[in-house]
Amino acid sequence: MSEESPKQDRAPTEDTALFDTIVNLAKRRGFIFPSAEIYGGIRSTYDYGPLGALMLRNVRDAWWRAVVRERDDVVPIEAAIITNPKVWEASGHLETFVDPLVDCRSCHERWRADQIDGACPNCGSADLTEARPFNLMFKTFVGPVEDESAVAYLRPETAQGMFVNFLNVMTTMRRKPPFGIAQLGRGFRNEITPGNFVFRTREFEMMELEYFVPPADASRWFAYWCEERLAWYQRLGIGKDRLRFRQHAPEDLSHYSAATTDIEFAFPWGWGELEGIANRTDFDLKAHSALSGVRLEYFDQVSGERYTPYVIEPSAGATRAMMAFLLAAYDEDEVGGERRTVLRLRPQLAPFQVAVLPLSRKEPLDALAHDVLHRCQATLTCDYDDTQSIGRRYRRQDEIGTPFCVTVDFDSLTDNAVTIRERDSTLQDRVPIERVVSELQDRIAS
Ligand code: GAP
Repeated sequence: MSEESPKQDRAPTEDTALFDTIVNLAKRRGFIFPSAEIYGGIRSTYDYGPLGALMLRNVRDAWWRAVVRERDDVVPIEAAIITNPKVWEASGHLETFVDPLVDCRSCHERWRADQIDGACPNCGSADLTEARPFNLMFKTFVGPVEDESAVAYLRPETAQGMFVNFLNVMTTMRRKPPFGIAQLGRGFRNEITPGNFVFRTREFEMMELEYFVPPADASRWFAYWCEERLAWYQRLGIGKDRLRFRQHAPEDLSHYSAATTDIEFAFPWGWGELEGIANRTDFDLKAHSALSGVRLEYFDQVSGERYTPYVIEPSAGATRAMMAFLLAAYDEDEVGGERRTVLRLRPQLAPFQVAVLPLSRKEPLDALAHDVLHRCQATLTCDYDDTQSIGRRYRRQDEIGTPFCVTVDFDSLTDNAVTIRERDSTLQDRVPIERVVSELQDRIAS
């Protein structure tokens, strides 16, 4: 079965108003739009607007930094989305990547049988068909002939790209377990009931690590990766009270897993999975060895040691994580007697790290402000806004989470300094233009 079933237990922040607020803000401020909205959209499919594209890139970068760049035991790959269908035969996805589908005979809606209580959530009718298995993989045809021999699938997980390239990577990069292969990219699942905004969509961004270990060390590495990944969400601003581990019961485990722990976030509708950490054992490497005839094993030529590594897999959704970061960052407070909305996003995640705001659109302030902008743009993601009052511009930047505004005023023309205004405290400091970039970098790094 795909992914987790919804859970009923209450989360600390159940708040449907917050959900609506975030969906509205995401649309209104250019984070996430309904896909092809001019044609009425297409159910539960979204396009990432300018701010969403920037933020999603930041989520990916933060993961890449923690899982690939700052480690010496993980290497990346980028595998094909459409590959040899034998991959999905060996992985078990053709046979077992199914959800139980039922149709309502009254209103003809379709549901996942394990997500409803015997009645249609749309019309309430209990006249449902028998549950039948529905494979979630998107089918397509490779080449011009649409027959069985041309059938291929869009990948439902990126993980298999790491397994089928295990030998290529291990030999070209001269690795020995423990080592990991990481990949970021789109996954596709023909979900029966997508929903809750970008929580469950049919196309989504995955961030997966397959960490190959000697079998005897699998439990230790499993515990290690659970803690590492939880700490990542916390470092990026999600409070401890909104995160938890959930261990899968043996009967809920995926076909490949000996143990799975989810990292869950307190979404407005209850606890929901952000990431699953699984002990995939040697299931995938052995399955691909059997079907391909190529032995996917580690072999030490000196000692003669030979074994099939176990795999610990932390597997996260970038689009789902972005939604959690937005929800966790949302706040409202009062500044100078006025209500404001503020996204308290970590600077690494905010779409813009800096907004340059000149007090006038006219020369010579415009040229000076653009000079400040160009200095900042070399290393920071910047917005430039010269319309309306400075107070309104601060509010607009607060609402999209920009941690720092740099105001260029008339004094800047003579003292060669600008004002840095901090989003959360709203405190302002005068800083020489020469030092503005290093000052911002220091604050972002702290
Ligand atoms: N390779 C393991 C695997 O695919 P999964 O739990 O099915 O595991 C991993 O998916 C992560 O991908 C989930 O924790 C979730 O964050 C994200 N994900 C899964 N299905 C999704 C969907 N339909 N929409 C958005 N994100 C999804």
